[in-house]
Amino acid sequence: KTRMSDFNAEKATLSSTVKAGTPAPKETEQTTHFSIVDAEGNAVSITTTLNGGYGSKVVVGGAGFLLNNEMDDFSAKPGVPNMFGLIGAEANAIEPGKRMLSSMTPTIVERGDSLFMVVGTPGGSTIITSVFQTILNVVEHKRSMQEAVNAARFHHQWRPDTIFVEAKTLTPTVKQELEKMGHTIMERGNIGRVDAILVRTDGKLEGGADIRGDDTALGY
Ligand code: DON
Repeated sequence: KTRMSDFNAEKATLSSTVKAGTPAPKETEQTTHFSIVDAEGNAVSITTTLNGGYGSKVVVGGAGFLLNNEMDDFSAKPGVPNMFGLIGAEANAIEPGKRMLSSMTPTIVERGDSLFMVVGTPGGSTIITSVFQTILNVVEHKRSMQEAVNAARFHHQWRPDTIFVEAKTLTPTVKQELEKMGHTIMERGNIGRVDAILVRTDGKLEGGADIRGDDTALGY
């Protein structure tokens, strides 16, 4: 509508005045997560993925959705990394009976027989890290759900032999100490977009919606 707003069917437009529009902002990482608890206490943790931008770039005719590109999560050749730098092995070969690797970690944590936490995130190879650190932040560091989600994250995935940290989260002293111990530290952008729910000790639910995205926690 905006592009057509200065169109005049009665008058020729000079080509020199026709310019490119403003393209939609770049798509974010192409996985999403929902954590849900209903009024009866039933929990659902769903992570769903296209894998990369527009998935396999195939829209299902008449259905209006894209097919994902999980083929990237098969191992094309042993030792060759996928889009997220993960190295698959024979178990992930493109052969009948094999399956692709996946980091997706939709998680439901129980305490005894009761629901405790629902957690998950997008983020490719960093998914497992983000889910684990969020759980640790609650269980070990006694943070609220939102604080646990907000906390800075760091990630190591075996190869490359590097610790990735969210930019400006390590103090220069901590960074130097780690480097002295032989670690390679690399700053990067956001790691993950966790959406999680905690069942508090008073039985109330607390949602944690990641401040890194446009995520929202809603109650009923
Ligand atoms: O299954 C996996 O591990 C990947 N297809 C997930 C990709 C992903 O999370 C991309 N976006 N953030």
